[in-house]
Amino acid sequence: MKRRNFLSNSSLAFGAALALPALAGCEAESKTTPSIPTLDGSWESVRNQFILSHKNVQMAQMLFASHPYPVRKAIEMHRQKFDESPVEYWEENFMTIDDIQCEAAAKYMGAEKEEIALTDSTTMGLALLYSGLKLKAGDEILSTTHDHFVTDKAIDYAAAKNGATVKRIAEYDDPAEATVDEITSKIAAAISEKTRIVAITWVHSCDGLKHPIKEIAEVVKKANSNRDEADRIYLCVDGVHGFGVENIDIKAMGCDFFCAGTHKWIFGPRGTGIIWAKKDAWDMVLPTIPAFSDDPYNMWMGITPEGPIAFNQLQTPGGFHTFEHRWSLHEGFKFQMAIGKEKVESRTRQLALMVKEGIAEMNNVKGTTPMDPYLSSGINGFRVKGMSAEEVVKAFHHKGVIASASPYLDSIPRLTPCVINTEEEVQFALKALREISQSA
Ligand SMILES: Cc1ncc(COP(=O)(O)O)c(C=O)c1O
Repeated sequence: MKRRNFLSNSSLAFGAALALPALAGCEAESKTTPSIPTLDGSWESVRNQFILSHKNVQMAQMLFASHPYPVRKAIEMHRQKFDESPVEYWEENFMTIDDIQCEAAAKYMGAEKEEIALTDSTTMGLALLYSGLKLKAGDEILSTTHDHFVTDKAIDYAAAKNGATVKRIAEYDDPAEATVDEITSKIAAAISEKTRIVAITWVHSCDGLKHPIKEIAEVVKKANSNRDEADRIYLCVDGVHGFGVENIDIKAMGCDFFCAGTHKWIFGPRGTGIIWAKKDAWDMVLPTIPAFSDDPYNMWMGITPEGPIAFNQLQTPGGFHTFEHRWSLHEGFKFQMAIGKEKVESRTRQLALMVKEGIAEMNNVKGTTPMDPYLSSGINGFRVKGMSAEEVVKAFHHKGVIASASPYLDSIPRLTPCVINTEEEVQFALKALREISQSA
């Protein structure tokens, strides 16, 4: 008995076909209700999609997104339906609705839906990836001293389970002055015969540096050209702080695995994320959490699938989730596409450059993020002479700016404007920083 049939035997199954009218209902409503904010190509209309408080200047959306109108609306709609009849609503939709999310993510990234597993966060994605890698004792994971806590711990936990080792290198002394050549040559020199994984982050949330992933992928490709498939090196990326800023084409990036939360720059529902896995890398990862999708479930029931099980089917963690959020994820990607990936990238770069140029003119403030947009994105880190990151963020709050301090051993304050912000807000934040640094 196939899983679909198994469910049909329960008294509540209504079939997947009911899913689409339910979603379509939400869209129909958004066309007819008069108070709906529409996107008209202006940045003001983007800003109006959010109910974000502007009592303070919001300059820390990189941490946790406010939901734009279509995401809010979709969540409300699903929540209502779940509260009316949870089991019925789940059974009407669960067979088809993950596909809608994977398709939207795939379209946004230039991937295929089968390559995308849905997660709850970047953290969950990285943990599932690294703990699932088929490493053996003696294999080496190469990472950096600049990486986030989550990559650091996820690779440590993975290595402790399978006897692999971890090597961490410093890629640069001063991030603001780093070059592509410096970074790629340090990685090339650190790759050894034992290296099987290169674990890096696209945009560092501490210093704001954006890794040249394409060039690093070339280094890995070159190293792989002398190796057997069994010794192949895989390039794994924590992509969260470039995802929703950079005009991504995942295939052109050249990595093998890419994990990102979609509740930061993408403005997707809080508690959502993805893992992308290149098709020829699927076999390197074992699932950790059983998936609730067709093929794995059918296999458990003794039915052998016709071909290999796709990554999305096998690696999207099963169990019951905050489905009203997960099932609204496609609205986040649609929102990004409606604005336009190129426009999002150029606007974020424009505002980020204003921040960096403003900082460069201040005596007591030193930027940590490269000026070059090839090596930077939307995060702008800096140090204020005589003040800790925490003191700077507190002082910003007193002046009406919500900034953030990076949660690293060497904590750095950050200003991270995004498409919601205005030029005036960036100038306001810079004026506040100037005053803070002068009073330090
Ligand atoms: C580089 C980096 N990776 C991972 C995370 C964790 O992200 P998530 O909240 O999606 O798990 C963060 C947090 O902001 C981060 O800065």
